Amino acid sequence: MAQQQSLEKIAEEYYQISSNILSSFPKYRPPLDLFVYKEPIRQLVHFAKKGDRLSNEQVEEMHRLCGEGDLFVSRADHPIYSQHIVKQLDLILVDNNIKPGEAADICIQALQLRLQDFFEQPVRPVYEQLYENAMVVTEFIWTDKHRLKNFLRRMHTGDHSLAAHSVNTLSLGLWLLLQTRKDEISRKEFDQAALALLLHDTGMSKVPAFITAKTTPLKVEERDKITPHPLLAHKIALKLDLPFDAMRQATLEHHERLDGSGYPQKTKDISAFGRLTAVADAFSAMLQKRPYAPAKPPLEAAKELAAARTQFDLAYSGALLSALLSNSISMG
Ligand SMILES: [Fe+2]
Ligand SMILES: [Fe+2]
Repeated sequence: MAQQQSLEKIAEEYYQISSNILSSFPKYRPPLDLFVYKEPIRQLVHFAKKGDRLSNEQVEEMHRLCGEGDLFVSRADHPIYSQHIVKQLDLILVDNNIKPGEAADICIQALQLRLQDFFEQPVRPVYEQLYENAMVVTEFIWTDKHRLKNFLRRMHTGDHSLAAHSVNTLSLGLWLLLQTRKDEISRKEFDQAALALLLHDTGMSKVPAFITAKTTPLKVEERDKITPHPLLAHKIALKLDLPFDAMRQATLEHHERLDGSGYPQKTKDISAFGRLTAVADAFSAMLQKRPYAPAKPPLEAAKELAAARTQFDLAYSGALLSALLSNSISMG
């Protein structure tokens, strides 16, 4: 019992490190302090300090301890640990020691980094890296759908960034998809939806920053540079050989509105996934501070969208509003 308590206390302050993670560190130089559990004193003591050069024998010993579940890292080193996982996101799927909230943080951070690269260079090799991470995240969520709530709780508010906006749109879009699809959704559909939500605004990365950062009303010729961004995102997706329905619908339709007041087609004929993306996109945009508008609290933004029922599909905006009102999800 005493040992049990002691181990529980240790788990609050330390991660037990898995062999997959250990193997991903530089072989001889651990990037953070390592601790070993000493049974007789029921305490953790230093095994190696950050940056120590280990001998072959120590490396062998380290792996043996790890295999026996006796090797730990301090939660105080979480920034280093998570930075490491951010770069090798698939580790998140095999590490049971990371708390669910920490895992969501790491996924979000990894996706944002990959998206930043992708928006700078929307070409196949950069996309492949984003794709890899996106598939880790969909696997992570698919395995336990409740994990999505941790992503919603961490939706980015405050200053606008296209990468953060895109990850917000992903989190809310996937949640809406799982909430509102009555029939079974296949894993393939889920994955394609995730990619489409992440890439819905790729076209915005081509709009000059001096236009997106403007705090004064846009001139006609400036607005003309923004209006085609859905078409541009669609074109980029085709160039990357991503011709599936969800991608076409998310990119082309996310600014279309039910009453035909949207753009670029001004069509009223919008697919279900296009309508879903429109709600996820508009809501995500409202949470962030934009040059022309302050950030809105989640509940206020959801109310506004649900009230705009001639523009946004109430099936989605209503689901979001009632989940927020009943506290079944929380944000910020
Ligand atoms: Fe957009
Ligand atoms: Fe958007």
